[in-house]
Amino acid sequence: MRNIRLFDTDNHRFILLNESEPGEEEGVRSNQYLVMQDNAGVLLDPGGFGVMPRVLAELLRYLNPDQLRGIILSHQDPDIVGGISTWLELSGCPVYVSRIWMRFLPHYGLKDMSRFVGVPDEGMDLEPSPGFKLKIIPAHFLHSEGQVNTYDPVSKILFTGDIGAAMMPLDKDDAFVDDFNLHLPFIEKFHRRYMCSNKAIVCWLDTIAGLDINMIAPQHGPVYRGSAVTDFLAWLKDLQCGIDLMQSGGRFHTQLL
Ligand SMILES: [Fe+2]
Ligand SMILES: [Fe+2]
Repeated sequence: MRNIRLFDTDNHRFILLNESEPGEEEGVRSNQYLVMQDNAGVLLDPGGFGVMPRVLAELLRYLNPDQLRGIILSHQDPDIVGGISTWLELSGCPVYVSRIWMRFLPHYGLKDMSRFVGVPDEGMDLEPSPGFKLKIIPAHFLHSEGQVNTYDPVSKILFTGDIGAAMMPLDKDDAFVDDFNLHLPFIEKFHRRYMCSNKAIVCWLDTIAGLDINMIAPQHGPVYRGSAVTDFLAWLKDLQCGIDLMQSGGRFHTQLL
């Protein structure tokens, strides 16, 4: 288990809370992040049911769950939402998720949806506590129909959910991507099959074009920094994926899948 301070000043932090160790969890390994300003925190993609106790243990190094001022779900997948009922019990904060997933989330066993806030298609600005500002940014169809990113203007870190996600071999546990070309084999197949189309990518690249981005923090695998950020975005720009490659009979037009 690790927790890595991606950005750390007296009053503002962006922390990779828990990157599971190889082999510790069935299914896909995932990252959870905590953004903090003073005593207020926002949890990004809290994770599945299985990782919840470990994420909580790491979070307690920094704050108590009742100091959470928001939980943001990048999309509806179980590796993000699976542990949400316990987080709802431990905290009193609102939970933000794309408006289009609101009607499906009760199927995670949630009886009360009153603390959920449906994020509009254009995204929204948050001020979880006075002076603590975050931007929820649309990333539709990358891969989820209602996908959102979170941008922290202080650390200049963009949390991208599954965009940039890597499926790393069990014996590889690097925290950062510094050389994008070396990293490409770990992301290429995932992006070609799970990301919906090049049009969705181009729309997203336009949407984030005005942001000053120091790091791209995905929900799976290492965090992009330095030239790996621009190299990754340049690679993505021309990527053919998802329905671009789809053929009849369930096949995909590539040898890579
Ligand atoms: Fe996903
Ligand atoms: Fe994911």
